[in-house]
Amino acid sequence: MEKQHLPENIHPIFDQLLQQSDKEQLLNQKAVVLWMTGLSGSGKSTIAKGVEKALHEKGFLTQVLDGDNIRSGINNNLGFSDEDRTENIRRIAEVAKLFLQSGLVTICSFVSPTIAIRQQARNIIGEKHFLEVFINTPLEICEQRDVKGLYKKARAGQIKQFTGIDAPFEAPNPPALEIKTANQTIEDSVADVLNFTLPIITY
Ligand code: ADX
Repeated sequence: MEKQHLPENIHPIFDQLLQQSDKEQLLNQKAVVLWMTGLSGSGKSTIAKGVEKALHEKGFLTQVLDGDNIRSGINNNLGFSDEDRTENIRRIAEVAKLFLQSGLVTICSFVSPTIAIRQQARNIIGEKHFLEVFINTPLEICEQRDVKGLYKKARAGQIKQFTGIDAPFEAPNPPALEIKTANQTIEDSVADVLNFTLPIITY
C-alpha cells in the first residue's frame, strides 16, 4: 500500500521520543499485536478475554481492543459498508500501534473480513509486530450459537451486509496461527494462543 503523505504544516516528532524498545525494557516484555480475525460469533472476544487474563496473571501488561467496544466509543460514527469497515480498521490499527509502541501486548479482536482490510492494518502496525490469528469457526456453528441474535436478524433481512451472510469473509492465507474452535474447549483455544505468544513476548 502507498505511504500516506503528511498533511501540510504538520511536523511529527516521532524520532525524538523514547522508542518501543525503551518501553519494552521497562516492562520486561516484548510487544506485539495479536490480530484476531473471524466471523461474528466465532469466539474472538472470548479467546481475547481469556488470553489477556492469563497473560496478566503471568505479569505481562496487555490491552484488548474489541469490535463492539470500539464501535461504541471512538468509532461510534461508523457502520458496516466497505468504506466504513476500512476506516474502522484504519483507526483501530493506528490505536493498536500506539499501544504497541508503549510496549504492551495488544490483542485486537475484529471481524476485519477481507485480506485488503487486514493488509491495511499490517501496513500501519508494521509486518514485524503484526501476528494474524484466524479464529476459524464454520459459519454454521456461529449461526447455531447466534449469541447476539444477529444471524437471525441478518437472515430475516433486518441487518444488511452481515459478514458471512450477504457480505464476504476472506480467510487469511496463511495466518500466523489458526485456531479451529469447533472441536475444542475455550480453554484449549486460549492455551493454543498462549503457547504461540509466550516465546515471542518473553524478554
Ligand atoms: S469489522 O467488519 O469492521 O471488522 P467489527 O469487528 O468492528 O467489524 O464489528 C463486528 C461486530 O459488530 C460483530 O461482532 C457484530 O456484533 C456487530 N455487527 C453489526 N452489524 C454487523 C454486520 N453487518 N456485519 C458484521 N458484524 C456486525
